[in-house]
Amino acid sequence: MVSKLLYQLDTDITPSVFDSVVAYDGGADHVIGHANISAAMVGPLVEGAIYTRGPREKQFTALFVGGSRIDEAEAVLGAVRAKFFGKFCVSVMMDSNGCNTTAAAAVALLAKAAPLTGASALVLAGTGPVGMRAAAMLALEGAQVTITGRSLEKTEAVSAAIARRFGVKVIARAAADGETREGLVRASEVVLAAGAAGHELAGAASWQDSPITTRVADFNPEPPFGLGGLAAGDKAKEYGGKLAFGALGIGGLKLKLHRACIGRLFTANDLVLDAENILAIAKEMA
Ligand SMILES: NC(=O)c1ccc[n+]([C@@H]2O[C@H](COP(=O)([O-])OP(=O)(O)OC[C@H]3O[C@@H](n4cnc5c(N)ncnc54)[C@H](OP(=O)(O)O)[C@@H]3O)[C@@H](O)[C@H]2O)c1
Repeated sequence: MVSKLLYQLDTDITPSVFDSVVAYDGGADHVIGHANISAAMVGPLVEGAIYTRGPREKQFTALFVGGSRIDEAEAVLGAVRAKFFGKFCVSVMMDSNGCNTTAAAAVALLAKAAPLTGASALVLAGTGPVGMRAAAMLALEGAQVTITGRSLEKTEAVSAAIARRFGVKVIARAAADGETREGLVRASEVVLAAGAAGHELAGAASWQDSPITTRVADFNPEPPFGLGGLAAGDKAKEYGGKLAFGALGIGGLKLKLHRACIGRLFTANDLVLDAENILAIAKEMA
């Protein structure tokens, strides 16, 4: 029996423990972590993966690109793919800081509750890896998306990066204070809070008293949560006719999805699992 080998190419100073545990739980026999990876370094690593096993065994070698910087991980993924040619390739997944699996789980759950096409969607603190991917996926689902951040310059740069990568328009708004964020929440049908753990971004009344908000989700697992008035375990929990998803309510599907994607890597030697197809898998699973 040929061993299923997963090489973690992590842009951070240590390979993510979270990603390695999920890799084993997803079906890898061995997980080999490489840290401090940059696009310039991947050549010999990819050669080692593509030139070592024959056509029938190549699918049991796979790559996982991670790390906390999405721009660096995107560059690494691009460099990996540039080394592939013909049948000389292995499957690769990109999930920098859990960006794709976490965002896809939330967007799939929100889309299952009601179609997102045409809905106004707000991603609070949408400038981190998870928020960026959530904003892009909401836009791919047809929502009219706005992201916020504390600085307009940073938020506009993120919006431009989303447009370059996905070809979708996401409006950038500066919202450095709670009052501004709460005004935007009140005016949005769908709200995702994607801020750093342990920071409230908007209070309960902003969404619970809004005449138009119908669905809210919060990625932040540590109290105070990003949105006041919901609980981490909420999964389509109803609050006065509005549906709420907390971090643990999203996290259950996120983990199942992440494991399922790892399992898929070993079913073929030419899969590239990134935002679009990870979202498609999430929608099948939600
Ligand atoms: N539920 C799950 O399964 C799961 C999985 C992975 C991650 N997470 C959670 O998802 C959230 C997003 O992850 P991430 O890696 O994308 O987050 P991140 O990069 O750490 O933070 C996202 C954004 O939060 C804003 N922010 C930081 N400190 C803030 C403060 N004091 N006040 C207001 N805004 C602040 C920043 O935006 P600006 O500087 O532009 O304002 C930052 O870009 C985190 O809470 C993380 O713990 C959940």
